[in-house]
Amino acid sequence: MANDLMQQLALLEREGSEAIDAAVEAGDVERLRVELLGRKGRLTGILRGLGQLPADQRPRVGAEANRIKDVLAARLEERKERAVTAVSDEALIDLTLPGRAHWRGGLHPVTQVVEEVCGIFESLGFTRVRGPEVETVEYNFTKLNTPLDHPAADMHDTFYLADGVVLRTHTSPVQARVMEEFEPPIRVVVPGTVYRRDPFDASHAPAFEQIEGLAVDEGITFIDLKATIAEFARRFLGPQTKTRFRPSFFPFTEPSAEVDVSCQICGGEGCSACKRTGWMEIMGAGMVDPAVFEAVGYDPERYTGFAFGMGPARIAMQRFRLPDIRLLYENDMRFLEQFG
Ligand code: PHE
Repeated sequence: MANDLMQQLALLEREGSEAIDAAVEAGDVERLRVELLGRKGRLTGILRGLGQLPADQRPRVGAEANRIKDVLAARLEERKERAVTAVSDEALIDLTLPGRAHWRGGLHPVTQVVEEVCGIFESLGFTRVRGPEVETVEYNFTKLNTPLDHPAADMHDTFYLADGVVLRTHTSPVQARVMEEFEPPIRVVVPGTVYRRDPFDASHAPAFEQIEGLAVDEGITFIDLKATIAEFARRFLGPQTKTRFRPSFFPFTEPSAEVDVSCQICGGEGCSACKRTGWMEIMGAGMVDPAVFEAVGYDPERYTGFAFGMGPARIAMQRFRLPDIRLLYENDMRFLEQFG
């Protein structure tokens, strides 16, 4: 009888130890503790037989039972410390944590400028249109009165995709596309990406946005160009804004001008942002060259028009006082979040 109990105890020690060694998760270890040493566990079951033993045999069996209990308890404890904890998803939810803010999408600063500029011209009667970024040499240069051997084409030394096919260097080819498709009167504003073989530095990017404008009708003069641009500048930058036209050259406009606005930072006094001139350049513009009208099949004796082109990234840099154009292309959330 005593030997029988001693055998059961020995079996419990061996099997219990093996089971404890095999346990991986904390939950398994706890289940084993209940099964081996719990109130209804195997050890308790064995000890129930103790009462039937002759009194002189009880201490020996009792002592062995206690030893095994201590051994298994120690092993369970040690195992528990190294056990992995399998937690349910629910256990991971801490309702006391502060909520995690959702990311709010926002428009890129350049997109904001594009939207605002196009919106102003739309309110002045212009229609927003787009053209292809993969363009033919014919539309990018030839129809715009820019033969490839003209020095002006050098400034647009560019990415050729195939013979006679380029990534457009400006949005001006859309002028020709629109005029070929529609008869005057025309008023369009054309946002889009353009590409140049420029170094990526603080003030240049090889791909950037432009906004083109074109108005063609009978009797359009330089006055219309000036008034339209001045009105745009006042609406975009504020009613105090002054506008100035400086003579310039583009093959597809004649006369041509660079347009400056009074410095948005100092209001024209002269500061570091405007290099002490009081002015900031915002676009190129001019009256559509008759040669362009001829190239698209318009009668240059009947129609006149004006065109302009601006770079919204440059305008965003002025508006937000950005020191480096590359900030606009890095997709750094710390930067972009400021324009939400
Ligand atoms: N296309 C010219 C450029 O990219 C800008 C421009 C457009 C100038 C329309 C005059 C008229 O530099």
